[in-house]
Order: sequence, then structure tokens, then C-alpha cells
Amino acid sequence: MACPASVPLVLLALMVCVLRAADAPCLSPALQRLDLAPTASAIVVFDLQGGPGGIATHATTDCSCVTLLTPLPLRLDFIGRGTLAFRVTGLRPGVEDILVATSAGIARAQIQIVGPGAGRGRDQLTTALETAKTKSLVVWGVVHDLSGAIRQCGCSAGALGGIDRLAALPGLSLNLAPSVATRWILSGDCDGKHPGVGTALSAYGWSTGVPEVHVSADPLPLLGQPGITAIIPTVPVPVQHRRIVRPILTGGLVVELLLVDAQGQIQERRTAPADDSLPAEPAILAQFPDRLTSTLDHTAQPATACAGCHSTAYAAWQRTTHARALDSLKPADRTDACVVCHTTAIAERVLAPAVNCQSCHTGSGPHVASGGAVRTIGAVNCRSCHDAKHHPAFQREPGWKLIEHGLETGSR
Ligand code: HEC
Ligand code: HEC
Ligand code: HEC
Ligand code: HEC
Repeated sequence: MACPASVPLVLLALMVCVLRAADAPCLSPALQRLDLAPTASAIVVFDLQGGPGGIATHATTDCSCVTLLTPLPLRLDFIGRGTLAFRVTGLRPGVEDILVATSAGIARAQIQIVGPGAGRGRDQLTTALETAKTKSLVVWGVVHDLSGAIRQCGCSAGALGGIDRLAALPGLSLNLAPSVATRWILSGDCDGKHPGVGTALSAYGWSTGVPEVHVSADPLPLLGQPGITAIIPTVPVPVQHRRIVRPILTGGLVVELLLVDAQGQIQERRTAPADDSLPAEPAILAQFPDRLTSTLDHTAQPATACAGCHSTAYAAWQRTTHARALDSLKPADRTDACVVCHTTAIAERVLAPAVNCQSCHTGSGPHVASGGAVRTIGAVNCRSCHDAKHHPAFQREPGWKLIEHGLETGSR
């Protein structure tokens, strides 16, 4: 039973998306297509059907270009319906998967973003530098709320948001256009959980606390003040003004390139994704060695708590690499950046080896404590670990076939 691609709301209750007892929840329409300029954003609304009294616990997307606006957990209404709104930006065209975990299982939908996109980081920078040269402007590169993004992900190369790529930018600009003046500015929260990121980047030509770039929750009074070039509002403000700069994405994913004239006025803007078209300075990453801030309890075997009552599921699980997921990590890789998906949290800052039953089945604690009387809350989204970075080719259906342990009879 599939969710209808697009159905008038009134028909939904009568049609295919009605839940059968243990059926999968769904989002409709299953696919929404959006034509967006790179700097534009739009709000997209999905209808979630998740069974009467159900709860939507979390939602994931692979790109921060699609973010959930509806607060979760969301309790569904008496016929099991709810509405989820997402903000979508046109920066990265392509198809983005949305997965919503509910108490009845996982619902999925897709957003297809069509449009020109922001292009490659290096091309954007090159164009900005050329324009600045012909029009005698200065290029300001602004990264807002970097939040210490060392790298967005673990295993894959060319990750967006690497501070190594940001570190290389001032030098790259100098090489590409020696005669164009540039300024490199970190605004907002620069360090996040990694104290010293701002200081480390300053050695490569970046500055923090630049007075001409204001971050403000009350931008309107600043519009006419002298000495300010850009204002980054921290709350939505319904004004269009040359000084108002709304970074498309934060976390070091993009650099806003402002082309500024001699009077300190922004004349043009471009957005450069911090992607693998830019060179990298590996030395800066070496200043932030990965550490393990949790304890790894090698003797813990959380799955055995379930084995007695779910022997078939336990046996099936043991045959999968989930049961040995820590073994794939070399000792040097048993760090915060890597362990999250290869271990199971069993207590505050205590991890057990492998992807155990509890990694996927939320609410296992009360379920075990009650001898199975209290139900689990549902299984987490596979995509929370099999994400675009660590497993781009992942597909749930064939993946599930390999680890299947659900529809068991007899001893569950
Ligand atoms: C907590 C993180 C996590 C979640 C959630 C997760 N996986 Fe995995 N999965 C992993 C890791 C890590 C590996 C690789 C293990 C290894 O080789 O070290 C893996 C491996 C696999 C494999 C290869 C298994 C094999 O035996 O060859 C499949 C298939 C798979 N996962 C399917 C799924 C499906 C389907 C879901 C959702 C129902 C899911 N995974 C959820 C972390 C996760
Ligand atoms: C967001 C979750 C996540 C994080 C973080 C993560 N991994 Fe993985 N890792 C996975 C998944 C999922 C797989 C299974 C991928 C597959 O089957 O192709 C995997 C597989 C692997 C494998 C087995 C690869 C293979 O081809 O058999 C290795 C080795 C590995 N990861 C190392 C790392 C290292 C090193 C880090 C930290 C730098 C890391 N992982 C961080 C999710 C993650
Ligand atoms: C990689 C994630 C993952 C792991 C690890 C995992 N499960 Fe599951 N399990 C699921 C998913 C997904 C389902 C399908 C039902 C759903 O979507 O809630 C499921 C289904 C089940 C069901 C049947 C539910 C039903 O209604 O038929 C049982 C029982 C179960 N798991 C027990 C376990 C036990 C015990 C372990 C550990 C030995 C385990 N699972 C490990 C993801 C996982
Ligand atoms: C004392 C026995 C017992 C233990 C221990 C136990 N279960 Fe269960 N479990 C049950 C029973 C009985 C059911 C059937 C409940 C029902 O269908 O109403 C069940 C159902 C489930 C289901 C499907 C229904 C639901 O609640 O979503 C999942 C998933 C599940 N168990 C996971 C686990 C996991 C994971 C563990 C270990 C952390 C575990 N169970 C430990 C007895 C147990």
C-alpha cells in the first residue's frame, strides 16, 4: 500500500493512506517539487498519517537545506493525522529524502528541488573576485554560526563545512586575484563545542568580532547607523534592505560573499558552498584531534537483555554486521566523531560496542522493565546512521531484507 502521490485533502481519509492495524505510516504528497532560486526558500507542508494516538518522534533529512519547522514530538489527532512543515532552500538542487519516525514506524517523502543552485564554491569565488576587480570592490567572505564545524561527517572525503577548506580560502583568493582586497569574517557562534576554532582560523586570515558585521535580534534601528555594512538578523524580520544579510545555511556550509564598495555599502552578493572544489589546509584539522569523551564498556552486551524473549530476532541480529559494528573502527578511530553510529549508548557518557537492539528500538528500557507489557516507541530512522555521507547508496528496502527480524511468529 503506497501513499498517493497527490490527493486532495478531503479524499485522504477515504483513500489508500488509511492505516490498517499494523500498517506503515505515510506522508503525503509523497513527492513535492519546488522550483527555487539558490537564495530563495519556501515552506513545504506534508500531511502525516500515523495511526490514532500516534506520535511523530523525529524527522531527518540529509541536507540542512531542508529543515523541520514543526516542533517534535508531535502527537497525532484522533484519526491519526498531523501536519509537518519544512523550510527548503534552493541552494542545492536535487532530491532530498525526508524520513519521519512515528510510533507506528517510519514515514517517508521526497522533496525535489529544481533550480540553478549555488554552483561550486571555487567558481563562485572566482566570479566574485572578477567582478570585484572590474568594479573596484572589496570581497568580504562571511561565515555565520560556524559552531566549530570541524567536518560535517566522518568517513567521506570532501565533506561540506570543513574548517580546512575555510582556512584555505584567503590564500586561494590571493592566488586567484592578487590585486583584489578581501576580508574574511566569522560572525555569530564560531567555536561551538570546539573551543579555539576561531583562533585557529585567525592564523589563516579570518577575523571574529568585526564591528561592521552586526548580529542582531533587533536589526531595524541599525539600518541607518553609520559604520555598519551587514546586519545578520537572528529572528525573522520582514524587511528587505541592502544591509540585511540572511545566511542561507550555517555551520560552515556556505560562505556569503559580499562585494563592498569604498563607502562600506554592499553592491552585490554571491554564495559560495564550502565544498571540495576548494583546496584544504589539513594542518588546521590536526590542531583538533578527535577524542573519545565517553567511556567504552567492552563487557556490556545490551542485546542480551532482549535475547530471552526474542530469541529469533536475537539470532537474526547476531548474523548482521550491526552486531560487530565497533570492530570496523580501528582503535585510533574510536573517537567522538566515529563511535556514534558504531556503538550503543547505555548510560550518560557510557557506550557499549556495536549497534544493539536499543540503538534502533526507542523505549526499550521501560519495555524490558515491564517484561514486555509497555510497548517500545518504534524503531529509529535507518538514515540517522546510513546517511548521505556514510552510506550514500543506502536503500531501506533491500537493506531491511538483510537485517530483517520483524514479522516473526512463535517466540518473538
Ligand atoms: C545506530 C546506527 C545505525 C542505525 C540506526 C542503522 N544502522 Fe545499519 N549499519 C550501521 C553500521 C555502523 C553498519 C556497518 C557495520 C560495520 O560494518 O561495521 C551498518 C550496516 C548495515 C547493513 C549491512 C549489514 C550486513 O550484515 O551486511 C545493513 C543491511 C544495514 N546496516 C541496514 C540497516 C537498516 C535497514 C536500518 C534501519 C532499520 C539500519 N541499518 C539502521 C549503523 C546503523
Ligand atoms: C552517521 C553515522 C556514522 C558515523 C558518524 C561514522 N560511520 Fe562508519 N559507517 C556507518 C554506516 C551506516 C556504515 C555502513 C556503510 C556501508 O555498509 O556501506 C559504516 C561503515 C563503516 C566502515 C566499514 C566500511 C566498509 O566498507 O565495510 C568503516 C571502516 C567505518 N564506517 C569507519 C568509520 C570511521 C573511521 C568513522 C569516523 C571518522 C565513522 N565510520 C563514522 C555510519 C557511520
Ligand atoms: C538496525 C536497527 C534495528 C536493530 C539493531 C534491531 N531492530 Fe528490531 N526492528 C527494527 C525495525 C525497523 C523493525 C520493524 C518494525 C518497525 O519498523 O518498528 C524491527 C522489528 C522488531 C520486532 C518485531 C516488531 C513487530 O511488530 O513485529 C522485534 C520483536 C524486534 N525488532 C526486536 C529486536 C531485537 C530483540 C533486537 C536485537 C537483538 C533488534 N530488534 C535489533 C530495527 C532494528
Ligand atoms: C520479558 C520478555 C521481554 C523482553 C526481555 C523484551 N521483550 Fe520485546 N516484547 C515482549 C512481548 C511479550 C512482546 C509482544 C507485545 C505485544 O505484541 O503487545 C514484545 C514486543 C516487542 C516489540 C514489538 C512491539 C513493540 O513494542 O513495538 C519490539 C520491537 C520489542 N519487543 C523489542 C524488544 C527489545 C529491543 C528488547 C530488549 C531491549 C525486548 N523487546 C525485550 C517481551 C519482551
